[in-house]
Amino acid sequence: MSLFDAYGYNGKRAVVVGGATGMGAALAELVKDAGAEVVVMDRAPVTLDGVKSIQVDLADKASIEAATDKCGGPVHALFSCAGVADGTPGIERINFLGHRHMIDRMRAAGTLSRGAAIGFISSAAGAAWQANLDRVKRYLDITDFDEAANYAVDNGMDNYLWTKLAICAYVAREAMGLLKEGIRVNAILPGPTDTPLARANADMWLGFASDYRDETGIEPSTPLDQAYALAFLCSDAARAVTGITMVTDVGYFASGLSGSFEAAAPVAQFLTTSEF
Ligand SMILES: NC(=O)c1ccc[n+]([C@@H]2O[C@H](COP(=O)([O-])OP(=O)(O)OC[C@H]3O[C@@H](n4cnc5c(N)ncnc54)[C@H](O)[C@@H]3O)[C@@H](O)[C@H]2O)c1
Repeated sequence: MSLFDAYGYNGKRAVVVGGATGMGAALAELVKDAGAEVVVMDRAPVTLDGVKSIQVDLADKASIEAATDKCGGPVHALFSCAGVADGTPGIERINFLGHRHMIDRMRAAGTLSRGAAIGFISSAAGAAWQANLDRVKRYLDITDFDEAANYAVDNGMDNYLWTKLAICAYVAREAMGLLKEGIRVNAILPGPTDTPLARANADMWLGFASDYRDETGIEPSTPLDQAYALAFLCSDAARAVTGITMVTDVGYFASGLSGSFEAAAPVAQFLTTSEF
């Protein structure tokens, strides 16, 4: 035993939802390397060896419930990674409500228990959650999966922006209630990351902040870059950290908001303060 073991996953069971490709796949591999027994859930086939794989469609309540029950417990780390881009039917369910429904079911079953941690993947699109808190709270107050999905559709929240605002607000708002159950919840807010999803939307996703990357001489993040950050947040080493969305954009927002990179200032201001 060493003090540094708190960063590892020995003896833990980790569930990666959306772990077939991209950041989720990198996380599954990383926490497996770090000692975890890993369950990967996805709609797509899972190719990583040495993990248990369970099919799930996060847009479908019955599928979420069946997958959660099949997974069983204990779940020491739940990585809620799956996400889709605008234009995908069911985005409100896939990116947020489905993950929340799985968490609720695991909480009710006691499989996510004391000492567990949940990690979400938000986005720059979710950065203005505080400016939109009243509206997001009304949405989050609807705890039923189908009712919340209908509300999202009826109120123009069935899009990428609102799914990510909802994640950031949920993480902040749910932290205290979850802590009473001994569970932590956090998210990361990645900058452009080279994944199949980003490549499919390359102009918007990988074009974002390219001036900053040119200026600093960096490339888009790799999925593993982002996985390292989320694995930390769900490890025991982060036991003082809950309720945060950690910005993992290699300094883009910080440089824009502080004025050290002026070209990013309007974008960062807009994305962190706009009321939608
Ligand atoms: N790539 C980026 O630049 C970037 C930036 C910010 C945030 N994000 C977020 O990161 C997360 C991971 O995305 P990624 O970039 O690694 O893309 P990805 O497409 O490689 O990974 C997403 C995973 O979700 C799965 N998935 C999609 N629909 C599903 C469904 N209905 N049910 C179950 N699983 C489903 C996919 O099969 C895939 O394995 C997403 O939430 C995305 O919004 C990505």
